[in-house]
Amino acid sequence: MLLEVRHLDCYYGQSQALKEINIEVEEGECICILGANGAGKSTLLKTIAGLMKPRRGEIWFTGKRMDELPAYTIVREGITLCPEDKKIFPQMSVYKNLCLGAWIHGRKEERIKANLEHVYELFPILKERSDQDAGTLSGGEQQMLVIGRSLMSNPRLLMLDEPSLGLAPMVVNSIFETIKEINARKTTVLLVEQNASMALKIATRGYVIESGRITMAGTAEELLKNEKVKKAYLGI
Ligand SMILES: Nc1ncnc2c1ncn2[C@@H]1O[C@H](COP(=O)(O)OP(=O)(O)O)[C@@H](O)[C@H]1O
Ligand SMILES: [Mg+2]
Repeated sequence: MLLEVRHLDCYYGQSQALKEINIEVEEGECICILGANGAGKSTLLKTIAGLMKPRRGEIWFTGKRMDELPAYTIVREGITLCPEDKKIFPQMSVYKNLCLGAWIHGRKEERIKANLEHVYELFPILKERSDQDAGTLSGGEQQMLVIGRSLMSNPRLLMLDEPSLGLAPMVVNSIFETIKEINARKTTVLLVEQNASMALKIATRGYVIESGRITMAGTAEELLKNEKVKKAYLGI
């Protein structure tokens, strides 16, 4: 098992945001976590990334315990979070924004160059705009930039927090195609989405989270057929 989340409880002060969460991800999978606004999706990803500490429970990655490690060590272990608030540095070039994602590689220029080529291959528009200030990019291009930046650290597990949020449908399609491609190139993906129909198109399996609790789990096919999922998340 690549990632195992066991009996995870998380709190903001007195308020419990995650309750007894259990999740398993195998190497190579593309897993989606569906849930309404406020269900606890971002909290879960932040906790796996080490940005929040759980009150109870354990997180294991490649057989090592993660929940006691600082966030920067977790990145070195191979987990990268592409967060919901797509923070870029608007007055720095696209190229420099990408290089920031490669901090774990220090001065390994060859490695950084190879990663850049990989990102430019996935997102040719970023190559075209590499010398432009990142602030001049469209919303969709900025999303590509933050995903590209996450890939610069060569994650074994890439976690994406609502990559479709606020983007036009055409752009959403292309972002999801690229996530599928990233997964096909052997990066394991953990995707959090409110856009269930898109997420279930590329995911192999999924979980549903409601008020901090996992209430359903299954293959993408099973979830697509499930009446409750259809009503609550697919609008059909
Ligand atoms: N910084 C915070 N302080 C207090 N409560 C928070 C904070 N962030 C999120 N919450 C609460 O935790 C719950 C889960 O939030 P979140 O993980 O952001 O949900 P989602 O990503 O599924 O929309 C919500 O009830 C939310 O109001
Ligand atoms: Mg969220």
